[in-house]
Amino acid sequence: MSESAVVTRSSSSAIIDQFGRRLTYLRVSLTDVCNLRCVYCMPEDMTFRPRRELMSDAEIIAIVRMMAALGIDKIRLTGGEPTVRPNVVEIVRQIARIEGIRDITMTTNALLLAQLAEPLARAGLDRVNISLDTLDPGKFKFITRWGDLNKVLAGVEAAEAAGLQPIKLNAVVTRGFNDGEVVDLARLTLDRAWQIRFIELMPFGSEADFAQSAVVRSSETRRRIEAALGPLTEIPGSDPRDPARPYRLAGARGSIGFISSVSEPFCGSCNRLRLTADGKLRLCLLRDGEYDILTPLRAGASISRIQQEILDAAYFKPWGHRLPDGDVPQSRLMSQIGG
Ligand code: 5AD
Ligand code: SF4
Repeated sequence: MSESAVVTRSSSSAIIDQFGRRLTYLRVSLTDVCNLRCVYCMPEDMTFRPRRELMSDAEIIAIVRMMAALGIDKIRLTGGEPTVRPNVVEIVRQIARIEGIRDITMTTNALLLAQLAEPLARAGLDRVNISLDTLDPGKFKFITRWGDLNKVLAGVEAAEAAGLQPIKLNAVVTRGFNDGEVVDLARLTLDRAWQIRFIELMPFGSEADFAQSAVVRSSETRRRIEAALGPLTEIPGSDPRDPARPYRLAGARGSIGFISSVSEPFCGSCNRLRLTADGKLRLCLLRDGEYDILTPLRAGASISRIQQEILDAAYFKPWGHRLPDGDVPQSRLMSQIGG
């Protein structure tokens, strides 16, 4: 009997938390390693986890399959940088075959997309979100510590050509680095059918002091854009679970969104769980609570036992961050969670 045949899917096994939120979206970090070192994300001399601590390909597939049987239907692959994981195309192919998974996306810095966009699309990847904080090559190098903007732009084009659409671009707005670039980024939407999302910088562990001193609220970013390019009008009928409600500049082909996790958390509509590359279920990006799934899996626990542990853990998914009280997530950096 195949593993998936053992797992029964019933409405009673949906993942529902203490606030009645139904959790259907899993973000899976494939690795904590990245080929860049963005100043707000990790130190230049970052150390990464030993390979044996990370989930193997088979372990990732096994956990996603168990969670799909509990009602997870959307997967986002994250990192670090997910495309540096060996076998990433094969991992996508196997996830795409899992019953119940109807949407597979990836958040990437796009450096490797010129080669990988096409094979990833063929393997079953539906869309990509690409990190792009500036259109100035010198600033890009400064923010990422060594990145080549041209490679990213080639990656964006490759993603579009491979049909990984609509393309979403993520810009983390960081005071003193790219807060002067938001108008140029917003202007891209006039000619391109891309969605540009401006993200508030969030504080994590050793990088928290920097993040808290350099955060720019979405309200300020929006004011700057509207002062230069005219009013933004909300696009009706968007998915209420999308943290970035889309807006449009007059006559624009693309759209603009704001992810205001710090100033206006979107906990009421949150349907997410996160699986870290070392196999921990993380219930909230901005709160430290985690549950180890990999250790019981390696110890040979049964599928139904692990599923019960997932349901029990997810029930306690929290609501709201405690940043104003000085309660900053300490156990991991963003790159070790996957955003
Ligand atoms: N706050 C907000 N966004 C961040 N990202 C990385 N670190 C942070 C942070 N501290 C962004 C990346 C990428 C996505 C995964 O998260 O730029 O777009
Ligand atoms: Fe890598 Fe993304 Fe962190 Fe930049 S923000 S160092 S691209 S994981």
